[in-house]
Amino acid sequence: MCGIVGYVGRAEAMGTILEALGRLEYRGYDSAGMAVLNGRAIQVCKRTGKLKVLAETLRAKPLAGTVGIGHTRWATHGEPSEANAHPHTDCRGELSVVHNGIIENYAPLKARLLEQGHRFRSHTDTEVIAHLIEEYAKHAPLPSAFRRALKDLQGSYALCVLFRREPGRLFGARKGSPLIVGVGKGEALFASDVTAFLDRTRTVVYLNDDEVVELAAKGPTITTLAGKAVTRKSSTVSWDVSAARKEGYDHFMLKEIHEQPQAIEQTLFNRLDVGRRRIAFDRRTQRFLDRISAQEKIVIIACGTAYHAGLVGEYMLEEFARLPVDVDFASEFRYRGPMLDRRTTVIAITQSGETADTLAGVRLAKRKGANVLAICNVMGSSIAREADAVLYTHAGPEIAVASTKAYTAQLTALLLVTLALAKAHGRVRPEAWKRLLAELGRLPDLVRQALATEPALEEIAAKYARARNFYYLGRRYNYPSALEGALKLKEICPLIHAEGYAAGEMKHGPISLIRQGWPVVFVAPRTPVSEKVISNIEEVRARRGTCLVVASEGDDDISRYADSLVRVPRTDELFSPVLVAVPLQLLAYHIARANECDIDQPPNLAKSVTVE
Ligand code: AGP
Repeated sequence: MCGIVGYVGRAEAMGTILEALGRLEYRGYDSAGMAVLNGRAIQVCKRTGKLKVLAETLRAKPLAGTVGIGHTRWATHGEPSEANAHPHTDCRGELSVVHNGIIENYAPLKARLLEQGHRFRSHTDTEVIAHLIEEYAKHAPLPSAFRRALKDLQGSYALCVLFRREPGRLFGARKGSPLIVGVGKGEALFASDVTAFLDRTRTVVYLNDDEVVELAAKGPTITTLAGKAVTRKSSTVSWDVSAARKEGYDHFMLKEIHEQPQAIEQTLFNRLDVGRRRIAFDRRTQRFLDRISAQEKIVIIACGTAYHAGLVGEYMLEEFARLPVDVDFASEFRYRGPMLDRRTTVIAITQSGETADTLAGVRLAKRKGANVLAICNVMGSSIAREADAVLYTHAGPEIAVASTKAYTAQLTALLLVTLALAKAHGRVRPEAWKRLLAELGRLPDLVRQALATEPALEEIAAKYARARNFYYLGRRYNYPSALEGALKLKEICPLIHAEGYAAGEMKHGPISLIRQGWPVVFVAPRTPVSEKVISNIEEVRARRGTCLVVASEGDDDISRYADSLVRVPRTDELFSPVLVAVPLQLLAYHIARANECDIDQPPNLAKSVTVE
């Protein structure tokens, strides 16, 4: 989704903003632009396409000044074009605006502003903001006009505004879309994502909805929309800037796949103590989990890959903790009138902590009195701050659009929660408890071993790279694994259609498509239902489909049915989704690579979906 940057300080704004926008490229965008104040006038430069096009233009004709704003746009209203790219300005060039989110009432506002004589240059919802401020500024100082304009906006926004007559200051506000302040030495920045400014500062100030910020080089002054002063402490981000670099890998996705053992270690760190046979959480999360009774209803909400982690969580929590679980797409949950009350625990799973539908689901759950636990990767994100408790996955920044390490870290967090609740509710015997904790402690090593499948997968990928349709099938815990495997492939290789199914559903329809050579990926580690999966493989082979099987080491029964085979270490079914995720990610990666796809930034996709 769109990226926002604002800079005020001593350095040249142009270079600083370009670098920061570069670090937001991963979010997905189709055009970029910036505005810099040179003391007399606001100079604007915008280009469609990649950031390097904007950078080349700016190199030929630099914008001088030490205060400015920048933006990468992912089109919602109006096609990707120079006119529609941000920043947008008012009629007289007095101010410039960058915006993330959607102004839902832009049409009536625009009609009113047109009647008042304003001239529009774009088809965006954002441009109304510039003219609205201009209109109110006819009767009030600019900062008050900004505040007045915000009150007219419906929808979601993170905004950054540069005023010609307010040198040395930027203005910002947020409502439903992330905006963070970074405070450095003699400089301050706005960004929609902390990775934008990690190389300049790790001191951040998180903003809440309906807050307005005046940003000077010495730092922010925060007020509410009503004008009341807000005191907010700064926080220090633990992420290192190197975590947001490729570090020798060709793609962030590949780097992040290989970072999974460490990511899982980080999720387990300080929580799993195999020696003392305990799982413990920080005080707030522990208190939250202690309150969950054996009669509790659990509802998991999430989107995309995080939703698949939630589906695995359903199997875990129902089988081991014996708690009833519903899993919902956050986008459906919020519109179906879910039945929630004080005895419902909602678990919101999200890498970014900013996904608009998941955030709306969290707010709905809280309004209805449910208790909300977030499983989240980004510290200080909106969902992490709004939930009653948060279990951070600590997987480090995930830059590739396709989620990999965040997914296996989410599964690990769900394993911790499941086992802790199973123990608290007396659902697990001491011998099993000891064995399961030991296996959980071994997960990072098992994932390391699963990574060793990469050369085999590269070969398999070369063999199937020309196929244009894939099925992914699995059962029980690995039905969601099949969904996730298919999502990875279609996400990063848009030439291919891949579909995940519960293997038992195959003969209820999808099997009609199977013909000679159609690749079917069976996610089939050794489990109590392995025999059933073998029957499903037979059904595909009978129709001359080609079977790629992800099996457990030593499982010879299944191997003989495979046209191509990769093996992951043998483990309990409970842990198997973490292990099979690795070859499925690598398969998608190498197929996409063989097809020369834009792996880290697939077309039309954004890392963090902050609009509904
Ligand atoms: C995963 O590969 C996708 N990019 C996408 O489905 C993602 O998982 C989804 O948008 C949810 O994001 P979140 O975890 O940040 O909430």
